[in-house]
Amino acid sequence: ILNALPLFGDTVIQNAANSAVGQAVIQIAAAKGIQTINVVRDRPDFTTLIDRLKAMGASHVIKEETLRRPELKELFKSCPRPKLALNGVGGKSATELLRHVQVGGSIVTYGGMAKQPITVPVSALIFKNIKVQGFWVTQWKRNHSQDEGALRSMLDELCSLICQGKLTAPACSEVGLQDFGTALDKAMQPFTSAKQVLVM
Ligand SMILES: NC(=O)c1ccc[n+]([C@@H]2O[C@H](COP(=O)([O-])OP(=O)(O)OC[C@H]3O[C@@H](n4cnc5c(N)ncnc54)[C@H](OP(=O)(O)O)[C@@H]3O)[C@@H](O)[C@H]2O)c1
Repeated sequence: ILNALPLFGDTVIQNAANSAVGQAVIQIAAAKGIQTINVVRDRPDFTTLIDRLKAMGASHVIKEETLRRPELKELFKSCPRPKLALNGVGGKSATELLRHVQVGGSIVTYGGMAKQPITVPVSALIFKNIKVQGFWVTQWKRNHSQDEGALRSMLDELCSLICQGKLTAPACSEVGLQDFGTALDKAMQPFTSAKQVLVM
């Protein structure tokens, strides 16, 4: 998605920015010179999370509530309005994201963690011509099954970023397979910002 839409100097806004996908987006965007506005849910250790995401290359980290506050206008004095919104949550969070997308921009939904449908304001469609799209990597691979070059070049690009130390795996906690119950419990908790990896 990041290859298809924004260019150097553009901005991407995303929710669930601390998710595994969100962390990859931050790093890939930073490597491409794309600014990111990263939206996360409020939590007790919010400042620690800001530091972590900024160390990965996040340009801005804000809480969901800030999307509705006037201080966001201040932010847009120093960074362009996003051409692309990446939505992994749905519901109100997605609606708030798309309010900030620039005229002619896109919102791409890849996940629905809140399990809520997205409301698209009519004005966003009529006056801003915002494109509302979805993305599923499995379908992308199917669509490109005859075009080995596309998959190959994407993987080459990602491997090159990994080799340069610009793209790392999300934070993980390793758990022995016998303790899978503990891992499942932790995976169900909010605000963990880490994957549970079962070690066999
Ligand atoms: N379309 C595709 O091709 C594709 C590919 C990969 C993944 N996905 C989807 O992408 C999403 C993220 O996957 P992941 O592996 O990156 O997830 P992950 O690392 O497990 O992170 C989950 C994220 O969702 C947030 N979250 C959980 N419940 C929420 C709620 N009720 N409201 C708002 N945020 C909530 C968490 O925030 P907190 O820290 O605040 O709890 C966290 O940021 C999933 O829906 C997954 O199915 C789609």
